[in-house]
Amino acid sequence: MKCMLITGASAGIGLHTAQRFISEGFNVVNLSRRRCPIDAVNHINCDLSAPGFLEKISNQLSPILQGSEQIVLIHNAAKMNNDSAVETPSQSFRDALEVNVVAPNTLNHFAIPYMKPGSSILFVGSTLAEKAVPGSYSYVVSKHAMIGMMRAACQDLVGRSIHTACVCPGFTDTEMLRQHVPDEAMEGVRAMSAYNRLIDPDEIADTLLWASSNAVINGAVLHANLGQVER
Ligand SMILES: NC(=O)c1ccc[n+]([C@@H]2O[C@H](COP(=O)([O-])OP(=O)(O)OC[C@H]3O[C@@H](n4cnc5c(N)ncnc54)[C@H](OP(=O)(O)O)[C@@H]3O)[C@@H](O)[C@H]2O)c1
Repeated sequence: MKCMLITGASAGIGLHTAQRFISEGFNVVNLSRRRCPIDAVNHINCDLSAPGFLEKISNQLSPILQGSEQIVLIHNAAKMNNDSAVETPSQSFRDALEVNVVAPNTLNHFAIPYMKPGSSILFVGSTLAEKAVPGSYSYVVSKHAMIGMMRAACQDLVGRSIHTACVCPGFTDTEMLRQHVPDEAMEGVRAMSAYNRLIDPDEIADTLLWASSNAVINGAVLHANLGQVER
């Protein structure tokens, strides 16, 4: 059986990605605090911000990973704070890094020994993985770190036929976007895409599915943003 292990499939991009992989015959395992609403998904309740999260779920995860001929690990869950480089206390900075950077490392450390050739580790980055805007300090830092982790993993996995990639979405129509962009500002956000629209989460799901089966992109950063208009 092929397995797709994803974080944050209770909503948004993760939920659409879970659906896409299920339709391709994957056994999908989700880690998040809320349940994934898709019945066919194997949901494991988990708060990635808790440093000891893996100990609580490893007994459930091990047999699934052990029996999988191919594993696609997708680091999708993220914490987005509105904070600034000038006034972010280290504790809240640490909390963001815990979900966005440390949890992916914890899952890599656990899952890589089970990964057979043909497996992959995909990261959901952001446009803010390669540029900064004001007021998203810990998110910008952690998304940049995610690209570093993806590139370093590519180098350290040489010879094992496991590939890595980071898919960087632009403005995608999800809960996270709606929480951070007030309705009156949405038109301006749409206008930042060359297509004057938000990205459908299914478009990112399709990109992740494609990335999982094309080892030629090993180590790559894939921009999935409809062409962001630069001003
Ligand atoms: N939407 C955009 O415009 C956009 C743009 C660029 C990049 N992205 C990236 O795309 C990814 C998915 O974002 P989205 O827009 O789909 O967001 P979303 O709809 O808010 O979903 C976020 C997911 O992350 C999970 N999550 C957050 N904190 C968690 C925690 N402590 N433990 C476990 N799970 C946690 C949530 O699950 P629970 O709440 O159930 O735990 C949820 O399933 C993120 O990495 C985000 O940075 C999004």
